[in-house]
Amino acid sequence: MASTPSFFSNTLIDWYHRHRRPLPWRETTDPYAIWLSEIILQQTRVKQGLPYYLKFIERFPTVHDLANAPEDEVLRLWQGLGYYSRARNLHFTAKQVVAEFGGEFPGSYAGLLQLRGVGSYTAAAIASFAYREPVAVLDGNVYRVLARVFGRHENIAAPASKKIFEEIANAQIPFDNPDTYNQAIMEFGAIQCTPVAPDCLFCPLQQECFAFQHGLVNVLPVKEKAKSSRQRFFHYLVLQHENKLYLRKRPANDIWQSLYDFFSLETETLHPDPELFQGQISETLQIPAIPFRTTGKVYKHILSHQKISAQFYLVSLDFRLREETEDTLGLQLYSLDEIEALPKPILIHSFLDEHFF
Ligand code: ADE
Ligand code: SF4
Repeated sequence: MASTPSFFSNTLIDWYHRHRRPLPWRETTDPYAIWLSEIILQQTRVKQGLPYYLKFIERFPTVHDLANAPEDEVLRLWQGLGYYSRARNLHFTAKQVVAEFGGEFPGSYAGLLQLRGVGSYTAAAIASFAYREPVAVLDGNVYRVLARVFGRHENIAAPASKKIFEEIANAQIPFDNPDTYNQAIMEFGAIQCTPVAPDCLFCPLQQECFAFQHGLVNVLPVKEKAKSSRQRFFHYLVLQHENKLYLRKRPANDIWQSLYDFFSLETETLHPDPELFQGQISETLQIPAIPFRTTGKVYKHILSHQKISAQFYLVSLDFRLREETEDTLGLQLYSLDEIEALPKPILIHSFLDEHFF
């Protein structure tokens, strides 16, 4: 075994005081602000997340402001972070805090777990940072530091490993300083004990670190390879009528729920048979065969389990679609100003930027 709990935590805390980055969510004990920062930081790195945090906290200084906002506005502010179900959960949770808890976040780890989108990691972060409750956080950084220092080979991607690491983590947390310790171990993982090329040479835990002592720094943590992902091909028809474009709000049960994009057909291959494709368009849109041209570029977007390749086809209509077709497909005409304000997948945003804005 490596160090005693106090050596490990004292070393990390001492390191933290010398290396910590000043970040706004570290200067507050407001559970709302901490929760907001954690949800954003689940999605992205500190550098990319910071401007989003600042935008959100400025626009929505309290949980009431967020709860009362229209969903479109929340999604629009989230635009570019990806994984939009997190933004919808964020909004839902704000409403839940207002409706069920009178606008006050639950005051303990166990209480916080009742909130939507708040799992053990986020609950531990809020409880320790806002209330100084001694519960250890476990995120990717923490797994890595613990696996290396304590020489654990369990696959950190396997759910069964969580309990083992939780026990190690909770055995290390100092009851008199849980907030600093949790910040410290995450920061240490982010800056010193990084995934690739950790700075072992100047590491204060070097003498105690199992991985360093045994030449296992490149092996630990063990992380099983991610599942291979599904390739999907989207063909977007950009239907233009006068100065407006047809868009629709994406439905549930697929990616990008509640974001706005164009009418699309999906195919199994990058280049579908042109005749079949034309036929399918006429049939679905209830219009005669029309000339359309692709912009030529393939836009790619990678999600956790899917790879999207999207092509865009410009179609100029001198008539409106039938009302029934509009309703069935959920299509509505929007002006460019209106479109700018709508929440959209980043790929749609890029396309519009290149062709319309
Ligand atoms: N990543 C997740 N939570 C964090 C925090 N509180 N500070 C810095 N990076 C983080
Ligand atoms: Fe991480 Fe290297 Fe320090 Fe071990 S010695 S804790 S692997 S940085």
